[in-house]
Amino acid sequence: MFSTPFLDLPPLVAAAGTVQLPGSKSISNRVLLLAALASGTTTVHDLLDSDDTRVMLDALVQLGCGVRRDGGTTRIEGLGGQLGVASAALFLGNAGTAMRPLTAALALLGGEFELSGVPRMHERPIGDLVDALTQFGCRIDYLGNPGFPPLLIHPVDHGALALDTPIRVRGDVSSQFLTALLLALPIAATRDIVIEVMGELISKPYIEITLNLLARFGIVVRRDGWERFTIPAGSRYRSPGDIHVEADASSASYFIALGAIATSAATPSGVVTPLRIEGVGADSIQGDIRFVEAARQMGADITSGANWLEARRGAWPLKAIDLDANHIPDAAMTLAIMALYADGPSTLRNIASWRVKETDRIDAMANELQKLGATVETGPDFIRIHPLPPSAWRAASIHTYDDHRVAMCFSLAAFNPDRIAVRILDPRCVAKTFPDYFETLFSVVRAAEVPVICIDGPTASGKGTLAVEVAYRLGYHYLDSGSLYRVTGLAMRRNGLTPEPSCEAQIADMARSLPLSFIEGKVMLAEEDVTDAIRSEAAGMDASRVSALPAVREALSALQKSFQRLPGLVADGRDMGTVIFPDAPLKIYLTASAAHRAERRYKQLISKGISTTLDGLRADLEARDARDSSRSVAPLKPAQDARRLDNSSLSIEQSVDQVLAWWQQTQPFKEA
Ligand code: DC
Repeated sequence: MFSTPFLDLPPLVAAAGTVQLPGSKSISNRVLLLAALASGTTTVHDLLDSDDTRVMLDALVQLGCGVRRDGGTTRIEGLGGQLGVASAALFLGNAGTAMRPLTAALALLGGEFELSGVPRMHERPIGDLVDALTQFGCRIDYLGNPGFPPLLIHPVDHGALALDTPIRVRGDVSSQFLTALLLALPIAATRDIVIEVMGELISKPYIEITLNLLARFGIVVRRDGWERFTIPAGSRYRSPGDIHVEADASSASYFIALGAIATSAATPSGVVTPLRIEGVGADSIQGDIRFVEAARQMGADITSGANWLEARRGAWPLKAIDLDANHIPDAAMTLAIMALYADGPSTLRNIASWRVKETDRIDAMANELQKLGATVETGPDFIRIHPLPPSAWRAASIHTYDDHRVAMCFSLAAFNPDRIAVRILDPRCVAKTFPDYFETLFSVVRAAEVPVICIDGPTASGKGTLAVEVAYRLGYHYLDSGSLYRVTGLAMRRNGLTPEPSCEAQIADMARSLPLSFIEGKVMLAEEDVTDAIRSEAAGMDASRVSALPAVREALSALQKSFQRLPGLVADGRDMGTVIFPDAPLKIYLTASAAHRAERRYKQLISKGISTTLDGLRADLEARDARDSSRSVAPLKPAQDARRLDNSSLSIEQSVDQVLAWWQQTQPFKEA
């Protein structure tokens, strides 16, 4: 997951491969609540692990429910209608799928409960649900603004509830109010309970998910049109034992769109390789699967099986669309991005619910699409997007409004004819439903050029510390090229070889097939952690010697280049800018006086309890510098286009800020 303040996506040019998508948020949170209300144990497979499911799980644990996670399964010990506590304060983040159903369930289960969330949650309406619940006797107070969370729920006696007349609920603001009642009312179903929907019910497919899952838990709701629902007397939640959560159909929309926009590269046989999506397909119970029809209407070429989809480019440019998107409110945001690549203006209608989601999504999409250069028109319940022709795209820092879907949608804009990068602010917001979204995206796309920042310089100049921090701040990968030479030196000694030209070919052979991996900051040689072993002064000397052998340098070249992966790389060493990544857009040559470097190394070693002397260290450093600078291949020297940074009198923070400031100058974005 990327927790950086921003993530820069370089221009992307192609997509192919297979993605496995995480579980559906809507199904996950409904299943969790139903499993908690049921008697017995439910084993949930492929549950989504995200912010919204975590708040639901935390709430259930607080209510006394047993939860055990074990690899890909989650076991829920149902409460069987009996809460383990009489009161609790539950924090539900920005998860509407937790706030609404828990409000209804807790109003019926009995107890004093305070339900709150993040500030945006307190701006998302819940009045229609509270009205529906209080009309038949539930007791709920608003702790802030009337109509909005936070709420205080009081206990009631089931005998006092007026369930003999139909319960009326509005269906035209959020379908989650009806879902909440449907999920919770079986708690009190000693008689038939009728729910009547007022106003035109929106997002009907979400109600279908609710009914489908209730049936899996033994409750068969009778439905008359979309106006009247009856929960039969004597309904009881029964655990199905095992239940599988299918992958999120809304998450699939980004990869379907990716296939439709980006899979233009034909293989030599003339076949365009599609993007394959696994975990959700034609048999899905999620309404957003109908995004497939809308994407096809825009020209995407999509094939499907029971639980997979394949998408590739069909019509190009895409075909403009004019669609009532009420049935796919979440996935329709992805159509708004596809509209940039269409042959005329596209209109998405009947989407007023966008205004009460994680953010006002109509305004959010319009603002950010306009930053890219698009002309956008909006109204209370529609958005119209004009396509962006070549040369009209602009580099933009995309504000994401703490809305996962805005972030995921705009990542697709990194595919554009003008080869313009896109900056996504607060990329962590995807954690709401798809924590590894960007990693998944990067696994199937190809960039025109993956950016590299090179940090070269003499030993003990602080390259490693600086490079690690710069990589961390940008969310980039990190290559410590010196460690490759150090590990080679170590492996050489273990094989009884010496760093002499007579052993050169053998050492190079060994270097080519080093069983080397970097795991969580550790350097592993096969199964062995050699992080500390390669840091000794003797290992440094050996590294310096093997690195002077041309065949060894050649042998390690491909391995170093393979670190150039999306979204970018920070590489430190001696020849990153001169030999390995000569086209890197930013090269730093880091130096510090020999006295400063010796002092830093001295402090480092002493703190590790290794005894040494300052004079000895300085002599060693100078000897190593002399060898690294005078060797015939790739001698240590600044690349012609390197920026020199002497950090003798700079703090680490100051050096990092300087490098980031230089990096920002190479980027097209105006704002941070
Ligand atoms: O950066 P370091 O001290 O871990 O590097 C160990 C040795 O490896 C150094 O003395 C020179 C060599 N080296 C190199 O020749 N080229 C690199 N890109 C990195 C390190």
